[in-house]
Amino acid sequence: MKKWPLIHTPLPGPKARKLIHQDRTYVSPSYTRYYPLVVEKAKGLWVHDVDGNIFLDFTAGIAVCATGHCHPRVIKAIKKQADLLLHMSGTDFYYKPQIVLAKKIAHMAPGKGSKKVYFGNSGAEAVEAAFKLARWHTKRELNLAFYGAFHGRTMGALSLTASKTIQKKHYNPLVPGITHIPYAYCYRCPYNLSYPECELGCVRWVEDTLFRTTIPPEEVATIFVEPIQGEGGYIVPPPEFHREMNKIAKKYGILYVADEVQSGMGRTGKMFAMEHFGVDPDIIALAKGIASGMPLGALVARAEIMDWEAGSHASTFGGNPVSCMAALATIELLEEELMENAAVQGNRLMDGLFKLQQSHECMGDVRGKGLMVAVEFVKDRNTKEPARTWRNDIIKHAFRKGLLLLGCGENSIRFCPSLTVNTAEIDKCLSIFDDVVRKIAG
Ligand SMILES: Cc1ncc(COP(=O)(O)O)c(C=O)c1O
Repeated sequence: MKKWPLIHTPLPGPKARKLIHQDRTYVSPSYTRYYPLVVEKAKGLWVHDVDGNIFLDFTAGIAVCATGHCHPRVIKAIKKQADLLLHMSGTDFYYKPQIVLAKKIAHMAPGKGSKKVYFGNSGAEAVEAAFKLARWHTKRELNLAFYGAFHGRTMGALSLTASKTIQKKHYNPLVPGITHIPYAYCYRCPYNLSYPECELGCVRWVEDTLFRTTIPPEEVATIFVEPIQGEGGYIVPPPEFHREMNKIAKKYGILYVADEVQSGMGRTGKMFAMEHFGVDPDIIALAKGIASGMPLGALVARAEIMDWEAGSHASTFGGNPVSCMAALATIELLEEELMENAAVQGNRLMDGLFKLQQSHECMGDVRGKGLMVAVEFVKDRNTKEPARTWRNDIIKHAFRKGLLLLGCGENSIRFCPSLTVNTAEIDKCLSIFDDVVRKIAG
């Protein structure tokens, strides 16, 4: 490992170049590729491209490969299940992996009382299902969601999303009845207040202004919220934010729906990020890290909320048996050691970034929990002018140095490695990042 990352061709290399050319011809141009990485195989945190270059992966395939790429125990579970049953459809038939996984998730989810689980194939599907379930259960038509939120790209999930206009351009009209409100983005407070003197003005505004002027609270079905905003910039709200917002929800019979698609499954050092905030959501949406890369989405809700009838919602592929067995192996690994590792290594990563922040003026804010960590780049620490070009150039240059990173928000870089990351890998990432930031914005 000492000699890795290993970059021995120009990037992209000759094989990658050919494949990218074909991709441009045949694959949808709607995807967002930051840099020309063509992956052949991967193990742990190390990704090999088609030309034999080896990269240190601090993206985990967009916060998905919780147990590292191709963890042997996950692969074993997948192979074993693939020999038995690939598909039957949990919509119309029963099979054990789906039932066992539902029981596991229902018991894991925070909060008292019995829970039930619905399975889909992706984050957007989990959100879509949560949206529909809330409407079914409450018979209410209005919803609150947050600016900066990303909940997915299907029409319902997209309607809740308020991250970038390109995601919505030409897709209107979307699902009506959704009001977006400001998130507790304290580094750039939308109300120009400072925490804690603000006494959470952003939460009070919902009850004091919104519910008094335009939105009758008894018509609101959900407050849809990411415990820590993901695509929006890995924004961690103040400790009381969710508790206070949830209090308002409870007061008016509104369901508090936590989109834990990115923040869940141990990434923040707890199984569900909402546990950091002491809130038991009414509904939780899960995907990404749940099955270490196999497609699976899930929503878990209290049994009395999941009162929809047969035929009201389902998916042919949802709860695929191979994905369910991958999820069970993933959860076992998270509970054994990886969740704790996420907390320990996350602290090391944050400490390292705080140190680098002292010598790099452009690192305006360092924030996160566990292995959900971001740096926000600014041109000037006083004006906080966003440094978008620096951010983009740093990501591209890190790739050339063998470190895979992704952006989030307008001007931030996220660090979301697999939960198997070790000390040497954290230190290697920090050292490459330091060099790259110095070169681009030093
Ligand atoms: C918080 C959150 N919700 C939903 C989604 C959508 O998930 P998917 O891309 O699997 O549909 C994402 C994806 O990034 C996400 O981060």
